[in-house]
Parts: sequence; C-alpha cells; structure tokens
Amino acid sequence: MLVFAVETSCDETSVCIINENKDILSHIVFSQENHKKFGGVIPELASRAHLQILQEITRKSLIKSNITIKDIDVFCATCGPGLIGGLLVGSTFTKSLALNSKKPFIPINHLEGHLLSPTYNNPIQFPYVAFLLTGGHTQIYLVNDINNYELLGETLDDAIGEAFDKVSKLLGMTYPGGPEIEMMASKGNVDKFSLPHPMKKSGDLNFSFSGIKTAINLIVKKNKEIKKDFISDISASFQKTIINILQNKLEILFKVMLKRNLHIKQVALVGGVAKNQYIRNNIKMFLSNYDCSIMLPPEFMLSDNAAMIGWSCIQKKYNNLVSDIHFKVNPRLSL
Ligand code: KG4
Ligand code: ZN
Repeated sequence: MLVFAVETSCDETSVCIINENKDILSHIVFSQENHKKFGGVIPELASRAHLQILQEITRKSLIKSNITIKDIDVFCATCGPGLIGGLLVGSTFTKSLALNSKKPFIPINHLEGHLLSPTYNNPIQFPYVAFLLTGGHTQIYLVNDINNYELLGETLDDAIGEAFDKVSKLLGMTYPGGPEIEMMASKGNVDKFSLPHPMKKSGDLNFSFSGIKTAINLIVKKNKEIKKDFISDISASFQKTIINILQNKLEILFKVMLKRNLHIKQVALVGGVAKNQYIRNNIKMFLSNYDCSIMLPPEFMLSDNAAMIGWSCIQKKYNNLVSDIHFKVNPRLSL
C-alpha cells in the first residue's frame, strides 16, 4: 500500500510518500520563512504559500520515489486542527488527486499525527501517555490504542511553544523562539530569575503559561539594556520553570494513573518543543524514578511534517477506515 500524505495546517508545507512497511520513499518539508519578520505566522501568507509550493513538491516527491501518481493507493491530508486557509488548500489539493486517480481519501487529525509519531520508531505498549508540546497545543493524552485517545489535561491559555515564541520576542530574538531560547539558555544561570509557577497547586493536569510571559515582560521592562548575559539568564530561568511545571504534572499524572490502577511504562514527548534537549534530558531523568521510559518520535517527525500524517493513515487503514472525500476541514477538530 502506497500512501501519499499532505500536511499544511500551519507554516510547513509538506508531502510524503510512505508504504505500510514504514519505508519512506520521499519526504519533503518546506518551512515557510516569510513569517519570520512578523514574529509569528500570518495565516493569509501561509495559505498562499501552501498553494504555490504544493504542486512543485508533489512533483519532486514523485520523481524522487520513482513512481507516478497512478501508483498511489491511498491519499490523505491533515483536515484539522489548524489554520483554515492552509487546511483548505492541502485537503482540496489532495482530494482532487484522489478523485482523479479514483482512490480513497482519508482525512487525518493533525494531533493524532503527533500522538502516533513515536509508534514509528519505538516498541509500543498501550496504553502510553503522550505530552503534546507544540506551538498551538499543550495537552496530555492517554493513548489507549489507535483511535482511542483520552484527553487528561491541557493548557488553559498559551501553548508551551507559544510561550517560548513570545518570550523570545520579548527578548528581541526571532521566530520560532524555541531553538534560540534553548541556545541562549545553555550559557545562562537557571536560578538568576525567580519566575511564577502557574497551576502548581491545581492538582489537575491542566497548564497555564501566560503568567510567565507577563512576569518576563515586567523584568525586561525594568532592565534598561538587553545584554547577552541577561538574555541567557532569563532563557535559562524560563526553561527551568518549564521543567518544574512539566515535572509537577508528571507527578500528578502518576498519582492519577495509580488511582486508576494503570501502570504507565512509557511517556512520549511529541511536537516541536520536544526537540529541546534540556527538556528531554530532564524529563528522562525524572521518569527513571518511576521506572518509566521516555519515548520520542524520529527527529523528522517532531516538527510539523507529512510523514506523521502518512504514518497515522497507515495505522488507521489497518483499523479499516473508509474513504471520506466529503470530510469538511475543521480548524478546531478534536480527537
Ligand atoms: O510541532 P510544531 O513544529 O508546530 C505546531 O504544530 O505548532 O511546534 C512548533 C513550536 C514552536 O513554538 C517552536 O518555538 C517550538 O515548537 N520549538 C521549540 C524548539 N524547537 C521548536 N521549543 C523549545 N525548544 C526547541 N528547541
Ligand atoms: Zn503540529
């Protein structure tokens, strides 16, 4: 079974050709650079760029895979959540290819793509817990099986990646902020600034990040000159706070799971923020206290990409999903 997958939910235009043996014949991710100067994604620019790029990278991916469009057995695309313009461009493009080839079209949930990404390269024991850490979402899921996801908690305001991006902007750095903050933090003092720890006593698995950004804004305003050391120290203190928050939620998670008599052996970190080595290392160490291992997807499946969409489609096909060419994209699609 050859699957052609498309991802266009935000600012990555991506296509992938993958088969059920996990062989990736081609995978192209075009990261749109035109948003950088605005410090965030401009939806209208993103959808126009998807429209301009999709055809070209589809042609390239077919050439690279040494096949023609007729060889594709199943077409799939992200149908939500995400930016409506991008979702419409990607899904309509893919649906028309499917219709023209008289092959099925499978709508894929972007979140499911992230959640199932670690099943590509790890031996999986269901249920596992996944921390979905992206620029648009911060959620904790109990993954009971393919198609069986339970939302345990989520952010009440900003997403974790959004917090990285906003703090980076406050410090005069570029978008996306995560990689810059991580780099600057490596030279900084984690204890230099004491930042708030929102929802510490909530006892649930929800998050809040907007207060940290506000606290950093106040510190930045008080500080007359933004020097490199200052940026490094704020970045390091911010990352330390993020780790404290994640560890606090992990503690609560294990208590909640114990009450339900569930022994979680694997916690997955998925989404762009899981690229952060400081976060990975600290979470890995922390999980070892609970006889639990950390799971990460392959590097190319961390940021938005079509490979995770194709891989989800393959797993769902095994669960006998049928074609749904009339599926309407939904910017707020949930699992
Ligand atoms: O999963 P993703 O590529 O796209 C969404 O679905 O949102 O995540 C993008 C987010 C951005 O907010 C970016 O700043 C963050 O991931 N990110 C990082 C790192 N690399 C990317 N955050 C922290 N540390 C990083 N190294
Ligand atoms: Zn994503």
